[in-house]
Amino acid sequence: MHIKLDGETDFDGWRKAARTLVLSEVKPAEVSWSVRGDEPGLFEPPDEAPPPAAPSGTFNVPAKFVDLAKTTILHHDPERFALLYRLLWRLPGHHDLLDVATDADVAQIAMMAKAVRRDEHKMHAFVRFREIGREPNSHYVAWFEPEHHIVELAAPFFARRFADMAWSILTPEACAHWDGRAVSITPGVPKAEAPTEDRLEETWRRYYASIFNPARLKAKAMQKEMPKKYWRNLPEASLIRPLIEGAERLTGAMIANAASLPHKAQKRPKSAKPRQPSSASGDIATLREEAADCRACPLWEDATQTVFGEGPKQAPLMLVGEQPGDKEDLAGKPFVGPAGQMLDRALKQAGIARNKIYVTNAVKHFKFVPRGKIRLHQKPNTSEIRACRPWYERELASIKPELVVAMGATAAQSVFGKIMPINQNRGRLIDLDDGTKALITVHPSYLLRLPDAGAKALEYQRFVDDLKIAADILRQSPRAA
Ligand code: URA
Repeated sequence: MHIKLDGETDFDGWRKAARTLVLSEVKPAEVSWSVRGDEPGLFEPPDEAPPPAAPSGTFNVPAKFVDLAKTTILHHDPERFALLYRLLWRLPGHHDLLDVATDADVAQIAMMAKAVRRDEHKMHAFVRFREIGREPNSHYVAWFEPEHHIVELAAPFFARRFADMAWSILTPEACAHWDGRAVSITPGVPKAEAPTEDRLEETWRRYYASIFNPARLKAKAMQKEMPKKYWRNLPEASLIRPLIEGAERLTGAMIANAASLPHKAQKRPKSAKPRQPSSASGDIATLREEAADCRACPLWEDATQTVFGEGPKQAPLMLVGEQPGDKEDLAGKPFVGPAGQMLDRALKQAGIARNKIYVTNAVKHFKFVPRGKIRLHQKPNTSEIRACRPWYERELASIKPELVVAMGATAAQSVFGKIMPINQNRGRLIDLDDGTKALITVHPSYLLRLPDAGAKALEYQRFVDDLKIAADILRQSPRAA
């Protein structure tokens, strides 16, 4: 008996034929299966045999089998129809058959169903649409080469996720289309029909580079999840090798520069009288002495020392950062690590001499979590910023600068006593309550973190431009001399 199904995914055709065959007591060994349009098999009858007449009678199969069969029929193995029929044939005599994991047929169907699900998952993850035309008439087209017959199965996911764009996913076997209302399936097309480049590609590549985290890189796991065969259709594929190589270099550099945990002897002995910041002003030397024993928040416990501000006591300009980093914590001085080097370069370019200005931080202890040998920077929270603010206020009252520059969100929150969004407020002079002028800009660490060289250069220039506003004020200040 030979059964010809209407298509590779013709589950209903298989079910109808299989049910008739079981009821007609046709043994699995007496049936062969193929799909209409396939090359005829060696033992296939030259003419299509009429399907056997359906005898009366019924039988039930577990719902689990129906689910498994619906998935497995999407596998590319031509033997799947026969395997499913063999299992169906055996089920009435062995209702728990599907629970016998050691049974060869059961193991085989489980493996095939798993392969189909995995292929579906890969399709969800690696389809990349390219835009054809321009908004509002754009159509998004993707090319994908699934291993199994999963286009119809995977399409509803894309319809839900990209519900408001018109898209087509082209594959060699079948194409899925979405017009905003319904999914339709058409025959497959050759790859040449899929677009290869568009204006979204560069944006996507930049985004990918920006989310790529070298510290999390596990190249083997990444290749397992994103097998090389998918790379050729991914716009970000050209970045993968350089990013992996770059990550290896970066990791090497991180290990070479690994921050050592502070030696016990470097830690200041616990003072007999721990201090809280007060509102009394004082000269900077006295404030620094007092702050050395600050216990206003728990950050002092793990930090090496308080890192107080530094600079001339009559500085016309006060720069405020977030908090000391690893290097600052060990050195006891603000902005001496990588962010400090970036800051020094930008100050120089803006025409500001660092030794003429006062540089400090909103929070004066290093906040971190240990990761092996490395101490990973943690952003201070609002209560830590608040607890440290009196030190900043006393520095301000002591120095009385003409301008305060807040670098980054934490600094801005401390300087203004409230959250100030950076982008809306940067680059313009704002009066503080006491009449001092303030300027908001980004933190130099932000520039260090930008992965894209073009964006980095652009943002660095904006940072220098902001500092030039400060340089103008400095030039006019009688204290500048
Ligand atoms: N980042 C800061 O905000 N301050 C420093 O002192 C160093 C890095």
